[in-house]
Amino acid sequence: MRAPADGAIASARDLVKIYGKGETAVRALDGVDVDFSRGELTAIMGPSGSGKSTLMHCMAGLDTPTSGTVLVDGADVGRMNQRNLTRLRRTRLGFVFQAFNLIPTLTAEENITLPLDIARQPVDRAWFDTVVDAVGLRDRLDHRPSELSGGQQQRVACARALVSRPAVVFADEPTGNLDSRSSGEVLGFLRRSVDELEQAVVMVTHDPTAASYAHRVLFLADGRLVGELEQPTAESVLDALRELGVGRRTGAHTASGPVDAGALALDGPHDGRHDGALVRDRA
Ligand SMILES: Nc1ncnc2c1ncn2[C@@H]1O[C@H](COP(=O)(O)OP(=O)(O)OP(=O)(O)O)[C@@H](O)[C@H]1O
Ligand SMILES: [Mg+2]
Repeated sequence: MRAPADGAIASARDLVKIYGKGETAVRALDGVDVDFSRGELTAIMGPSGSGKSTLMHCMAGLDTPTSGTVLVDGADVGRMNQRNLTRLRRTRLGFVFQAFNLIPTLTAEENITLPLDIARQPVDRAWFDTVVDAVGLRDRLDHRPSELSGGQQQRVACARALVSRPAVVFADEPTGNLDSRSSGEVLGFLRRSVDELEQAVVMVTHDPTAASYAHRVLFLADGRLVGELEQPTAESVLDALRELGVGRRTGAHTASGPVDAGALALDGPHDGRHDGALVRDRA
């Protein structure tokens, strides 16, 4: 088994997840090797059903892989007992979901500190202030979710994910329910949490513009990593989706129109990484 890459805070090796049995079995993950590092925002893209959420859930100990290894912050997630796993999830991992999943009866501040309160861990006030200022929610802390805009609610969810200084934040379509302005707020914050707060963030998205906030984009198809793009732009992401034929089957729309999945075949040699170039070292 290949060791985790230098500096990796979370890694998967030969990760396989099969749902169901026999003829109806679905191979949601089919041998994924991946490393995530501090100070890096990684976007994961791929068609609906390609295994993006399954990968996040297996990495975060929310789902059990069929085989393979997941290491987070030096711990082997697959070998942890339930108690340690729960503790890891509450203190070392952050989650942001498409539906913000805030508690409606709690204020923004109470929602943000909830994971630590449940884990009976003290809140590091200096870090709390740093996170709250980074998400720009200082003057909204006493508001309940119903009194906040969608973008503000998702920023509360981001702050909640970061308040324990987790090893990694996993965000599954964090801007899926947001308009473009609110998306920009949330994505800007996720990027700053990586650049300024040295977090590691992994984000699933269908949107090439959202992906362009990332340091790199990984492309999944049929449970496998099929491509990787460094320093993406919305245009280079779109080109990669076309080239790989992994545009969202339901139609990924951007300013330049729907992605024509499968328009271009993936063939021919490639001479390694350079900025904005599609890296295909995983085929
Ligand atoms: N609990 C489950 N039981 C059975 N099959 C499942 C389960 N969860 C996911 N699957 C299947 O595994 C495959 C991967 O699903 P997954 O949710 O990871 O896709 P995704 O890439 O996140 O898609 P989307 O973009 O639609 O969110 C799909 O074929 C899905 O139907
Ligand atoms: Mg999903």
